Amino acid sequence: MTDNIKQNQAAPSVKGAGSGNRIITAEFVISNTDVRKCPEGTMPEYAFIGRSNVGKSSLINMLTGKKGLAMTSQKPGKTQLINHFIIDKEWYLVDLPGYGYAQRGKEGRENIRRIIEDYILEREQLTCLFVLLDCRHEPQKIDLEFMEWLGENGIPFAIIFTKIDKISKTRLRENFEVYQAKLLESWEEIPPVFFTSSEKKEGREELLNYITEINKTL
Ligand code: GTP
Ligand code: MG
Repeated sequence: MTDNIKQNQAAPSVKGAGSGNRIITAEFVISNTDVRKCPEGTMPEYAFIGRSNVGKSSLINMLTGKKGLAMTSQKPGKTQLINHFIIDKEWYLVDLPGYGYAQRGKEGRENIRRIIEDYILEREQLTCLFVLLDCRHEPQKIDLEFMEWLGENGIPFAIIFTKIDKISKTRLRENFEVYQAKLLESWEEIPPVFFTSSEKKEGREELLNYITEINKTL
């Protein structure tokens, strides 16, 4: 990663946090379509959202170091439920269905939209929502509108550019600059930004540092 991009990461740099960020246990808890049936209690949770196929489930597997924990697929539309994974018995990672999968049909899409929106608006334990964007693409309307909707509803979020192994560092920097300029057209400041590759296990420390630091403040 270039310094240029690193400076744009709002993740706090934590002294000596390197190896301290190993996840010891990660277990699947429950899948459901109804936010009211999600696990009770006050443990903080961090959820991944974004277009189908952007790499949400793969990122959960990469962060936890458990390959088959969240179900992944080459075909979009794999995750259709709210999936809770408990991490070190203290906090949750949540895998959400992707939005914008065209082949699901109108009713299917409506259903998924309702699941996602109810979860985001009603889940009090949701501490930070990570919006995943494929680093290869230029800004897409569906993602920009989704982030606008989050802003309107006062939902804090961070951005993760995924699949960085798929393009060169130069290209990544260019794409990020385009994205940054686009976001600044409607946002006063850019939310925290991370860059990940589930394939090459990149961005793991930065993300886990960020989550660990938030957990410490709760
Ligand atoms: P839905 O559940 O359908 O919404 O998709 P998702 O966002 O959970 O995506 P998933 O993790 O299932 O990954 C989709 C495809 O992208 C799979 O074929 C993954 O192997 C691939 N993929 C995910 N992350 C990466 C990455 O960092 N690098 C590369 N090269 N491929 C990735
Ligand atoms: Mg998935």
